[in-house]
Amino acid sequence: MAERRKIANARSLRRQSPDAERRLWRFLRNRQLGGYRFRRQVPLGRYVADFACMEAKVVVELNGGQHVERAAEDAARTQYLTRGGFQVLRFWNDDALLRTEEVLEQILRTLRDTSPHPDPLPQAGEGDSTPATPRRAMDREPPQPVWLPPLALYVHIPWCVKKCPYCDFNSHGLRAAMPEREYVAALLADLDADRKDFGAALDGREIISVFFGGGTPSLFAPESIATILDGARTRLPFARDYEVTLETNPGTVEHGRFDGYLAAGVNRVSFGVQSFADDKLHALGRIHSAAEAEAAVKLAQAAGYTNINLDLMYALPRQTLDGALADIRHAIALAPTHISHYQLTLEPGTPFAKRPPPLPDDDAAWDMQEACQAELAAAGYAQYEVSAYAQPGRRCRHNLNYWQFGDYLGIGAGAHGKVSDAHAVRRRWKTRSPIAYLQATGSPRRIGGDETVAREQLPFEFMLNALRLNDGIGMGAFTAYTGLPATAIAAPLREARARGWLQDDPTRLQPTALGRRFLNDLIEVFLPESPHA
Ligand SMILES: C[S@@+](CC[C@H](N)C(=O)[O-])C[C@H]1O[C@@H](n2cnc3c(N)ncnc32)[C@H](O)[C@@H]1O
Ligand code: SF4
Repeated sequence: MAERRKIANARSLRRQSPDAERRLWRFLRNRQLGGYRFRRQVPLGRYVADFACMEAKVVVELNGGQHVERAAEDAARTQYLTRGGFQVLRFWNDDALLRTEEVLEQILRTLRDTSPHPDPLPQAGEGDSTPATPRRAMDREPPQPVWLPPLALYVHIPWCVKKCPYCDFNSHGLRAAMPEREYVAALLADLDADRKDFGAALDGREIISVFFGGGTPSLFAPESIATILDGARTRLPFARDYEVTLETNPGTVEHGRFDGYLAAGVNRVSFGVQSFADDKLHALGRIHSAAEAEAAVKLAQAAGYTNINLDLMYALPRQTLDGALADIRHAIALAPTHISHYQLTLEPGTPFAKRPPPLPDDDAAWDMQEACQAELAAAGYAQYEVSAYAQPGRRCRHNLNYWQFGDYLGIGAGAHGKVSDAHAVRRRWKTRSPIAYLQATGSPRRIGGDETVAREQLPFEFMLNALRLNDGIGMGAFTAYTGLPATAIAAPLREARARGWLQDDPTRLQPTALGRRFLNDLIEVFLPESPHA
């Protein structure tokens, strides 16, 4: 009798409130539920869930009476989902309508209590990282806990005013006008072709970050950057709080450009400052002075950018420890949110490698790194990667995604991409020459290479990135993003721990201070030909 009443009740409720689902969806969509994202009407194996948060494996169902009538079917469904690791929350339709706040509170509580991810790496709310997307193989039986990493977009602009003698990036000094308009069209054609080629591997995945790198992207007019960003947005779904970084050479900044980039959607600017000492800038062949770099940063701040990175290099020709510290102090005084601090390296094939300038030796370079790191820490910039320092919540999402073995599409001459699907990790890179790239606009000839990463290579590739991070990465991310079992790295892990290079925590892959000092040796342990791998 009671059951019948329940069914009748539920049916009448459904008639009265056919929009319960829509209304709950509006709430779920508009809430930042601990940084988690809900999707509506999600196919999970043989069922369609009303709402699901794939990152936390939570399913929300509304009970409009059908569950009362089909109790047995429903029990099987719940069993199926829980076997796949999902938690099922069930509410009555009137709960969703009348007590939405309570319903949301309960969902939030469940999310808080749930281990959200194979790794605590998407520090939800911190804004530093992004939850993963489940791999699409959800229609297997039972659903497999297989996850795809977040997806970003890299856009390469291959021209500079003048090539710097230390730089081996795919950048070309300008001798004539840039074919800017043609290049913008080629980038979007490249994106179209990549979307088609990667097909289902991109389905349902949002772009968490866009990075305009170079070369010198700030040579492009704001209108071109806007065309590229708008074009990308119409081709791929973007996450709500996506980051867009534009690399800028301080010698290329014209008044008013920053407003234009901001209007185009750029919300982070990265300046290649290198040093605040004019003699060092001269020795590096830079096209700007220290005063111009400072003025450019202030111009961006005045335009309203609240997320700014400065690139500095140390161990410069004839640089002293005091000189390196003075550069860092000057950078800190400008109050950027992020500082990248790179040791100048002699890259093969560059003029500096052919005729090396007098550089500080390794010990002096190490002292500079340590002293600058302490200075940065005292000023509130925590080191989180070998060369990266950030104020709280200001880590570079784009680079974090690389280091956390995330996925990214790479468009533009020489750009690299990495895309995973349920079965493999695929790398693709574009032809390096800007002219050849333009001539191949949108055609398969724009591709310089494309390969599936061999399974035995995956541990090394994963570690090469993840162990650069001071916090390392959760063990779960290794199994989730490589598709390999933890046993695949049991031997090298033992070796690295025995040498004191990795923390003794079975749930994390985190270098010790010693491991960070001998990072190359640590990573080498994971090479497939290493005796330990
Ligand atoms: C693509 S550039 C950045 C933007 C712009 N092209 C510029 O230089 O102003 C990226 C950064 O890499 C760093 N870099 C380039 N070559 C380097 C080298 N040989 N050793 C260390 N850092 C290097 C520089 O700090 C540079 O700012
Ligand atoms: S401006 Fe930047 S990308 Fe261009 S050559 Fe110099 S360091 Fe390399």
